[in-house]
Amino acid sequence: GKGKTDGARGLRFEPVAPNTADQVTVPAGYAHNVVIRWGEPILRGAPAFDAEKQTAKAQAAQFGYNNDFLSLLPLRGEHGRQVLVANHEYTDEVLMFRGYDSENPTREQVEIAWAAHGLSVVVVQEEHRSGKLTPVTRHHLNRRLHTTSEFELTGPAAGGDLLKTSSDPEGRTVLGTLNNCAGGTTPWGTTLHGEENFNQYFAYGSSPTDKRYGIGTGASERKWERFDKRFDLRQEPNEAHRQGWVVELDPYDPDSTPRKRTALGRFKHEAAQPRLTADGRPVVYMGDDERFDYFYKFVSSKRMKKGGSRAAREHNLTLLDEGTLYVAKLTGDSPAAEIDGTGKLPNDGEFDGSGVWIPLATGDVSHVPGMTAEEVYVFTRLAGDKVGATKMDRPEDVEPSPRSGRVYVALTNNSNRGKGTNPGADEANPRNLNKHGQILELAEHWDDPSSDGFAWRLFLVAGDPNDPATYFAGYPKEKVSPISCPDNVAFDPHGNLWISTDGNQLGSHDGLFGVATHGERRGELKQFLTVPKGAETCGPIIQDRRVLVAVQHPGELDGASVENPMSQWPDGPGKLVRPSVVSVWRTDGRDIGV
Ligand code: FEO
Ligand code: CA
Ligand code: CA
Ligand code: CA
Repeated sequence: GKGKTDGARGLRFEPVAPNTADQVTVPAGYAHNVVIRWGEPILRGAPAFDAEKQTAKAQAAQFGYNNDFLSLLPLRGEHGRQVLVANHEYTDEVLMFRGYDSENPTREQVEIAWAAHGLSVVVVQEEHRSGKLTPVTRHHLNRRLHTTSEFELTGPAAGGDLLKTSSDPEGRTVLGTLNNCAGGTTPWGTTLHGEENFNQYFAYGSSPTDKRYGIGTGASERKWERFDKRFDLRQEPNEAHRQGWVVELDPYDPDSTPRKRTALGRFKHEAAQPRLTADGRPVVYMGDDERFDYFYKFVSSKRMKKGGSRAAREHNLTLLDEGTLYVAKLTGDSPAAEIDGTGKLPNDGEFDGSGVWIPLATGDVSHVPGMTAEEVYVFTRLAGDKVGATKMDRPEDVEPSPRSGRVYVALTNNSNRGKGTNPGADEANPRNLNKHGQILELAEHWDDPSSDGFAWRLFLVAGDPNDPATYFAGYPKEKVSPISCPDNVAFDPHGNLWISTDGNQLGSHDGLFGVATHGERRGELKQFLTVPKGAETCGPIIQDRRVLVAVQHPGELDGASVENPMSQWPDGPGKLVRPSVVSVWRTDGRDIGV
């Protein structure tokens, strides 16, 4: 009815109720299609997907596994087509291979997994007057990048001793990008890809820095070190230093070598989203997704050149190599005694305060006592430790509002906050044993993204709205959807923030939500879709006519396997579960949520 479909412009749909259906559920009056699934052919010569006869060669020409970040870029001169770029974060071998023996993977299985990681570029075609999208196979821009593809290290740490290996004595050429989680799209038409939990691929770490990055001292879970010595840190101790970067890809040049931008630091990069200063310099906001890790920004010293000329494009591909890397320190404005760890609002009615950006390094100059610039870039977490950056509740995706410039940071959860000797609640991370997470809103001083200080407040404190610890920007809680574990964030054309979740702790499936960020409906959160069993919702893109999501790791539940599937999505009984990209649109052909 009308009462349910009113709301801020862009959010006028009937909210989807929390549920545990093994499907993608969308609002009444909306339809969806699976755009592309794991294993669908995208390159010339790729075979159709055959779960029982999969090969590494086939996989290297097919869409990868566990789609996460998505970007859609315009494609001039080809009517109704756009360029889709997708991250393939990791592989779920037990859901990919019948009879998988995790102690003894075969070389073919390992090489399939190598080929199923990385990035895909695939042109997609719109259906006339609907939001449906289908892949254009064999388009000349289509591309796969995976664990044996070549990447170039650029910026101030490239070529340094910490990045040299026996196969790359120059320290400038890396094979593979691993665990690409979220990312970003630049105003100059490239995409950014965060290399997140790269630690899991390396075996036999031993240094204190390996430990700070979570690299284990024993064999790795996937046993890749048995098949390529670069994953064995006893043999190649610097190889792990070559993952954990932000990758920049030019999807319009299928022959280009993607770059790992060392100026943006090395940590478990969730995402990287730029905003331009008034004079055209990009500022990239970035989270390190780990409990008690930090939030960063990079401020370029170079201005973006406008226009599509070759010279402008070449110049813009150097913007992320020169500038200053900063880490955030946040201070609350309420007395510590009013932050009791339960999430109860302090007496001033808000979790809010001020912050400073602490410079870590500019080019070859370190600002951190006792660390060289090269060490700051390669061991950025240790630099954050030294300067006393604020330990956050897992900074995931980040998005500056294209309208207000305010930056929204998803802090997904932190079950260890206040546990044992761990830091307890502070005003920005106000709940101990934080199960549901929060979203922080950051306003740079003078609205200048290169500023060295900012104001912040919590925009949402997630959970069941009946839980007194939750907060929805002050909006009446009886009118909002429950939400748990915000992960990816994106803006729609109306200035509403859309939030996808990973790991819902309220007993229903993950999903996608929209919330107004300005006006009298600020804080009115509405659920737009839910995903199948075991899945997380990733990579949302909200265009006028469609919403795109990546359904990641469907069926990933304890005890699940090819033989014992716990989800039948998307292809029904008897088929493997397949991570896939989904497009949603309105059946009456009108814009989303208006
Ligand atoms: Fe890959 Fe932080 O989620
Ligand atoms: Ca306060
Ligand atoms: Ca994520
Ligand atoms: Ca996640």
